Amino acid sequence: MSVLTAGPTSRSHTARLAVTPAVVAHRGASGYRPEHTLDAYRTAIRMGADAIELDLVPTADGVLLARHENELGLTTDVVARPELAHRRTTKVVDGETVTGWFSEDLTLAEVRTLTTRERRPGLRPGNTLHDGREGVPTLDEVLALVATESVRRGRAVGVLLELKSTAYFDGVGLPVDEPLLAALRRHGLDHARSGVTLMSFDAVVLRRLAPRTRVPLVQLLDVGDPVDAAALDAIEEYADGLGVHQELVLPRTAEGTLDAPTRLVRDAHRRWLDVHVWTLRAENHYLPADFRIGPDPAGLGDLGGYARAFLDAGVDGLITDHPDLALRTVAAAA
Ligand code: G3P
Ligand code: CA
Repeated sequence: MSVLTAGPTSRSHTARLAVTPAVVAHRGASGYRPEHTLDAYRTAIRMGADAIELDLVPTADGVLLARHENELGLTTDVVARPELAHRRTTKVVDGETVTGWFSEDLTLAEVRTLTTRERRPGLRPGNTLHDGREGVPTLDEVLALVATESVRRGRAVGVLLELKSTAYFDGVGLPVDEPLLAALRRHGLDHARSGVTLMSFDAVVLRRLAPRTRVPLVQLLDVGDPVDAAALDAIEEYADGLGVHQELVLPRTAEGTLDAPTRLVRDAHRRWLDVHVWTLRAENHYLPADFRIGPDPAGLGDLGGYARAFLDAGVDGLITDHPDLALRTVAAAA
């Protein structure tokens, strides 16, 4: 797709110059560092990632944190904090029963006492060397880091912000829209060329944000979500792009090998919707059978070859835990 994305549709598809195909570091360079740490983001930028991706959840006092989910036990040391033991509880979040410690029950001051740790120690044992080295970053801290790194490196680094569990947070009286837009304004980023993109699986929050910001909006789609003409027509009313599960573009056969591309990229581009795919990971465990190297699930397979298949399918962005490997593929394909 052209680097200038400007369509003639109802949201007037905010004109923006973007790097395409973009390599987006998913939760930072999370193949190499515990996810959603400043070190993970810095590592991704040092590797050359065009943008970083982060997920957002609020604290009890409405501060947005960079965390994939509001339950903090998987990626912090909260479980080892006796002073917070009484805050462990069970809730239903996005239809799932979850037990643990929740961001919306802790103040920022309490979250500041926690340190981060690797989510997948079995697959990524090397990352555990970085456990305990950092706290949980706030959105403000990440945006400040990106600004500093962009100046230092002389290039604009993009930021893809994903709003998590938005209906749930609406329900507990902590809607994320206002703190998010306020943060963008504080950092001078609430405009079409800021390099920030807002993403969500929740069409309700995206429709709510559409008249309130010129920042590009991306509808996330998972396997099983409708991607027919009616669905894409509806998305085009409020969004500028799609962030789709990799198998919606390149499905897998019954044997687990790569199948032929679907028509999704073509159908989206006809509506001036960009297409980013998530999440490309180098470990054999995550790769199609024909891109694995050796029997070890934690061993690295041919992510470059897999990424190349997505470039050939015409996608606009690769959201990946291993940005260095995807960047090599993009450079080779240029
Ligand atoms: O970029 C979209 C992708 O991050 C969605 O999946 O679960 O990693 O947030 P998840
Ligand atoms: Ca995400």
